[in-house]
Amino acid sequence: MQTNLRGRDFISDLDFSKEEVETILDVAWDLKRKRALGEPHPYLRDKTLAMLFFYSSTRTRSSFEAGMAQLGGHAAFIESKTTQIAHGDTEKEIGEILGRYFDGIAIRHVDWGIGNRYLNLVAEASRVPVLNMQCDIYHPHQCLADLMTIMEKKGRNLRRKKIVVSWAYAESYLKPISVPQSLILQMPRFGMDVTLAYPPEFPLMPEIVAQAQEQARRYKTHFEIIADADGMKAAFEDADVIYAKSWGPLLTTTDPEEGKRLQDKYRHWIVDNDKLSVAKDDAIYMHPLPADRDIEVTSEVLDGPHSVVFDEAENRLHVQKAVMALTMR
Ligand code: CP
Repeated sequence: MQTNLRGRDFISDLDFSKEEVETILDVAWDLKRKRALGEPHPYLRDKTLAMLFFYSSTRTRSSFEAGMAQLGGHAAFIESKTTQIAHGDTEKEIGEILGRYFDGIAIRHVDWGIGNRYLNLVAEASRVPVLNMQCDIYHPHQCLADLMTIMEKKGRNLRRKKIVVSWAYAESYLKPISVPQSLILQMPRFGMDVTLAYPPEFPLMPEIVAQAQEQARRYKTHFEIIADADGMKAAFEDADVIYAKSWGPLLTTTDPEEGKRLQDKYRHWIVDNDKLSVAKDDAIYMHPLPADRDIEVTSEVLDGPHSVVFDEAENRLHVQKAVMALTMR
């Protein structure tokens, strides 16, 4: 167990070592148990968190805000467009100034090529931890909740368990690539074999894939990529965990119209019971939500016996409380 997380930023999935992630999960389970028993746990009494959003949210905002209150502190919701950022507040000013008012700064900024850089520049100027509520490259708190959920369903020893991180069709908008990137980085460290599946125009960032492959080599796990126009069902073969969601073809084009045209070629990449039938009988279906219902995934699967999406959403609360309690004290 590694407990020295005080003052640390959490921007990339690999900012914390495997042992540190194990500590976070231990604390998260303790906090989950305490909440279930109604035991107060005010580890952050009188502490404050700034939550700066450049992009909309349901789960992330709600779980960080509820989490800070349950820890005895307060979270301030700050929407970027209601600030003076558009009028000149720089990353340095945000880091310096919010860092003097608050005990932590959490930021969601998913703009492609901008978000991660923004978080790192704020962190350079801040005297308090910067926590990533999703950027263009990573969604690390979502990934910790995913890992916690997988361990609850499959046991803490995940060696040789197969997770499929798959693209799925959505018609609503071109979604960030941060969720699949976080998953392929974090899961090999915990022994999982990763199959990454997407249509050819939807690759992830090569440097992130290389890092994930390096993690797989280090932890002696399998890492496979299926970049085939019809590869979804084949990828699901013998899977323990199906994690299928949409993301934009950002490495191929940043033009939304061209991206939509590419996306619309793959309407058949929907998770349904037929595709799920080739996975293990006890496979679980995961999605960070929101999902494009009956487009990314059928209602039958989303609401069916394999789906763990609500436990997954709940665990956002517990892991984030653990990260905040460990970094912001
Ligand atoms: N999964 C997730 O991050 O949800 P929100 O976009 O609603 O925060």
